[in-house]
Amino acid sequence: MTDRYAQVYARSLSEPEAFWAEAAAAIDWYQPWERVLDASRPPFASWFPGGRTNTCYNALDRHVERGRGAQAALVYDSPVTRTKAVFSYAELRDRVAQFAGALSGLGVLPGDRVLIYMPNIPEAVIGMLACARLGAVHSVVFGGFAPNELATRIRDARPRVILAASCGIEAGRTIPYKPLLDAAIELASEARPEHCVILQREQLEATLESSRDLDWDALAAQAKPADCVPVAATDPLYILYTSGTTGVPKGVVRDNGGHMVALAWSMRNVYGVEPGEVFWAASDVGWVVGHSYIVYAPLLHGCTTVLYEGKPVGTPDAGVFWRVIAEHGVSVLFTAPTAFRAIKREDPEAEHVRRHDLSHFRTLFLAGERADPDTVAWAERVLGVPVIDHWWQTESGWPMAANCMGLEPLPVKHGSPTVAVPGYDLHVLDDGGVELPAGETGAIVAKLPLPPGCLPTLWNNDEGFVSSYLARFPGFYLTADAGYLDADGYLFVMSRTDDIINVAGHRLSTGGMEEILAGHPDVAECAVMGVADALKGQVPLGFAVLKAGVTRDPQEITAELVQRVRDTLGPVAAFKQACLVARLPKTRSGKILRGTMRSIADGEPYKTPATIDDPEILGEIEQALAELGYPR
Ligand code: COA
Ligand code: AMP
Repeated sequence: MTDRYAQVYARSLSEPEAFWAEAAAAIDWYQPWERVLDASRPPFASWFPGGRTNTCYNALDRHVERGRGAQAALVYDSPVTRTKAVFSYAELRDRVAQFAGALSGLGVLPGDRVLIYMPNIPEAVIGMLACARLGAVHSVVFGGFAPNELATRIRDARPRVILAASCGIEAGRTIPYKPLLDAAIELASEARPEHCVILQREQLEATLESSRDLDWDALAAQAKPADCVPVAATDPLYILYTSGTTGVPKGVVRDNGGHMVALAWSMRNVYGVEPGEVFWAASDVGWVVGHSYIVYAPLLHGCTTVLYEGKPVGTPDAGVFWRVIAEHGVSVLFTAPTAFRAIKREDPEAEHVRRHDLSHFRTLFLAGERADPDTVAWAERVLGVPVIDHWWQTESGWPMAANCMGLEPLPVKHGSPTVAVPGYDLHVLDDGGVELPAGETGAIVAKLPLPPGCLPTLWNNDEGFVSSYLARFPGFYLTADAGYLDADGYLFVMSRTDDIINVAGHRLSTGGMEEILAGHPDVAECAVMGVADALKGQVPLGFAVLKAGVTRDPQEITAELVQRVRDTLGPVAAFKQACLVARLPKTRSGKILRGTMRSIADGEPYKTPATIDDPEILGEIEQALAELGYPR
């Protein structure tokens, strides 16, 4: 390792307050902070207490005031609707101010929650920034979730207003959002919003209920622009729900001040991007990648951000990423490895790449799931630019391990997201909390305090924050990932230590899916696990044991189980296979041997666990999987 990264990293840990105070100079404050870090209430910590600022002002207004008004802030490219639009910083600021005025007219006050259920369209970004402008707290829900999931989030966040689009467009079909929203509000009747503001898309107009529903355009047209409201640096900017170890999602809270400081720092130092350049995160605004790197970070840094509504393949072909990069002059692309597996599968010789001018394109960043070395090597070969795997999670909000291209590119090791990002003091511990030597796999943890930008707590749930993340190893944040650090300090992230799986880069809980299967009237017990998938990395596979006396057609029951997960959790779960078995393999103490079942499904060699109650059941599982088409 050469010096620059090592020096910056060492300083970030030895003098965190001086380090982040310097980084905070990239942000405009109405009032400076009283302290950089307040860790007087362990295990909680807050960054920049006493400071007052506004995230929307920093993302838009100040750039206009300083001469970026005519520069493109947001490029919307939607092959699924054959639409493109460019919003300059001045235009985006005006649209956001106008819509913030509309929200304010509906009574939205600082601290009120506004839930956003929209696809990747400019109004989703406008809605988020309008909330930030008013000091209201947005909570964006990914469109691929079913009403039940939406209802859970409505119950927890208790939004005053919900912003939604009339429909989303998935390759080849239009998905009406309004009926899903109505069903969710019915389910969460104790937390009904006062209003729903519906953006009518021309592909499918929604029916509005006069008392509650308002038309987005009509509302915005009559509103007066609203100014930015100064908020405390420690006030929440947003809540983003993410899968926990049960069906109940966790409301990850993000603050205003620390979040801006960390994101702005990451743009230059991690991604190596300068203001004025074009940055594209090919994700969805409903995920943390969308929050941080479609919306906030590029705008805070004065970049042009690309909002893409489409898939990497099929909209219309495997060349669309290269078309977008060439057409909009993208310097840096960030996406999930699964997108590249999809492209590679359709265009293995990368013939589409040759048809586009990628001369502006400098770096590809991958995250969201393990970047398999084959995919990384393929991307390097066909693109001829550095391909950087980096590791983080909804909770951190920005990268925890990366090859910091703006500091000093380090040699790439396939299979590793490189090294700890400045601010993150990463360690690997054994079950007893003892630090493991290089090369040994254990729990990946970050020493407290976490750097700015990371979650200060869970929404209305300080206790859950402590029990989920801070209690297991006092003094450390538990990432729930397992892996090791090698002798050069490179991190290797191997698996989760909980029941979370990553399906096409989407984070899902198998425990949540088990709860859904267990709710089927014919199911006595069940197990769901993530099995390897060549495209999506992992997909869920369910096993169910039926109640005694059930004699219905097994195929009918498995079809119902698949439909049940789709209807309750949503299509994003990609739960397509369920399998009925007579018994599940268990330990003598009754724990289901999910890991062994997964090894069988993945065709990996496995040892029969010494604690197994009845080893014969493993043969039955092999047989059932063979019938589903899994190789033996
Ligand atoms: N609204 C409604 N439904 C949605 C949706 C949305 N916003 N997003 C996805 N879905 C549906 C899809 O239509 C699909 O339904 P289906 O089972 O009827 O086909 C299902 O949810 C799964 O979607 P997806 O995971 O996108 O799979 P896919 O098979 O349509 O596409 C890939 C596969 C690899 C092309 C796609 O997953 C992809 O582009 N991944 C990129 C990774 C990414 O963006 N990760 C986010 C974190 S960085
Ligand atoms: P999410 O909160 O949806 O961003 O998912 C976070 C989880 O995705 C992490 O805890 C990891 O399990 C996984 N993940 C994200 N990036 C990587 C990566 N680069 N390598 C391996 N796993 C990753």
